[in-house]
Amino acid sequence: MTDLTGAIVALTGSGSGLGLGLARYFRTLGAKLALLDISADKVVALQRAFGEDTLVMQGDVRDIDALKAFRDATVAKFGGVDCLVGAQGIFDGNRPISELPLEKIPAAFDEVMRINVLGYILSAVVFREELAKRNGSITLTASSNASYCADGGGLLYTASKHSVLGVVRQLAFEFAPAVRVNAVSPCGIADSDLRGPGALGLEGESQNDIPKDSFMAMIRKVTLLDHLPTGAEYGPAYALLADPKQRILTGEIIMADQGLANRPIISAR
Ligand SMILES: NC(=O)c1ccc[n+]([C@@H]2O[C@H](COP(=O)([O-])OP(=O)(O)OC[C@H]3O[C@@H](n4cnc5c(N)ncnc54)[C@H](O)[C@@H]3O)[C@@H](O)[C@H]2O)c1
Repeated sequence: MTDLTGAIVALTGSGSGLGLGLARYFRTLGAKLALLDISADKVVALQRAFGEDTLVMQGDVRDIDALKAFRDATVAKFGGVDCLVGAQGIFDGNRPISELPLEKIPAAFDEVMRINVLGYILSAVVFREELAKRNGSITLTASSNASYCADGGGLLYTASKHSVLGVVRQLAFEFAPAVRVNAVSPCGIADSDLRGPGALGLEGESQNDIPKDSFMAMIRKVTLLDHLPTGAEYGPAYALLADPKQRILTGEIIMADQGLANRPIISAR
């Protein structure tokens, strides 16, 4: 098992689903945690669950000042930072682009791209210097369904998740050799609360609203492992990339897809 004892991990989008699961998993490996989320309610719940040893802050990854405050508070509390993990995101309700009101597309595009892409870019740039002091790493979140092909979301989500691949590869190139940059591409998260954009009036719609049985049936149909993982179950893949002892992997994107890409032709099972 990867040992992260003493490693200082800053995690954005840690209020639910993947990010919350990763925070719990990283804590079992001995990491010291700094957690950021935009939701005031989730921040209160995080502080209650993780206690005073963990830094918990409310902030928006689109806000440079909020990211600087998060970085500075992390360094002030722990003395530095080894790993930045990006887990925030919103989706587009899987809406086909031709079904969106044309005049709402620009604002919805801005909202999805600024959270799913710009937020990762800004946090990487803000944390770069501190991470470089400790030969640290950045691990971002792509998607096995939306980063490589169609039908893993609507067009806006798919465009944003394809962009994450380019962000990871270019950051890995530009930040080398001091900081490694990688990503994980998850495929379905059982405890997700993934929301839609306010610009489409979908901020109250959660991926969690899709009945678990039908989501499970869909995952079973297209993957090999008959399992819809929780956020925490993606922990080992993220920990492998974040481990400070790991000096090999950069520009890598782990396909954490339960065998989805190994099964392009769907046969009845
Ligand atoms: N749910 C899935 O099936 C799935 C599959 C593949 C990839 N992903 C990706 O995994 C990541 C996590 O998704 P999830 O399913 O756990 O969703 P989630 O909504 O449960 O978690 C995302 C967290 O990010 C926070 N957040 C949203 N906007 C933010 C902002 N501007 N600043 C700071 N925090 C913000 C939310 O409050 C939430 O706590 C996303 O990048 C998503 O695209 C999800």
